[in-house]
Amino acid sequence: MKKGFMIVCDGSNGAGKTTVIKGIENHLVNKGFDVVLTREPGGTVIGEKIRDVILDPSTPEMSDMTELMLFGAGRAQHLQQKIIPAIESGKIVICDRFDAATFSFQHYARGLDLETIKTINNFALNGFVPAMNIILDIDPLEGLKRVKSRGEGLDRLEDEKLEFLTKARNGYLQQAQLQPEIFEIVDATQSKEEVLKSVLKIINSLIVKHA
Ligand code: TMP
Repeated sequence: MKKGFMIVCDGSNGAGKTTVIKGIENHLVNKGFDVVLTREPGGTVIGEKIRDVILDPSTPEMSDMTELMLFGAGRAQHLQQKIIPAIESGKIVICDRFDAATFSFQHYARGLDLETIKTINNFALNGFVPAMNIILDIDPLEGLKRVKSRGEGLDRLEDEKLEFLTKARNGYLQQAQLQPEIFEIVDATQSKEEVLKSVLKIINSLIVKHA
């Protein structure tokens, strides 16, 4: 059986990942692909429990290293239990955030040492690399306005200062510069239709590449 691959959709909070992911799923299903939607933190029963702990706004005392290791623990479970089996059985996995978020938020924004993050990520990933990270790029202030206009409360990370979220955004842009072969930046301030059009162009070339 031909192996599948994984597409990550990531970017600033409020950039419109959920709508884009739905659009990618519809597009792929219409083309006859088997699709698995998943997310980080989360994706498995254990991962979702870890997600609740990480994002709980009532525990601002969580140390940066605890946070990093929780993301790593959830990722290890996710990869082993869900992502690898899906890819091995020929499916296309669409993941809402993945390891690029750890580099952006825990390294570029929190300032944790890059080598430490690489070490934890390597434990979790064991050499696995997603086929593509699609980064929906938006000014974090604009993104937060969108989150608030949906009437949702802010989670522990969204509750960080704007400066933190701006550093995370720049972290995505820097990663994209360093690894252009697995990163695509999409301007998320365009209309929903334009954003999806740009994303589906990327998806179509991935399908050709992995055919
Ligand atoms: P979400 O609500 O968009 O799914 O993301 C949850 C939050 O977790 C978001 O603020 C980004 C953050 N995050 C990290 O800080 N590091 C990570 O590795 C991941 C996957 C998410």
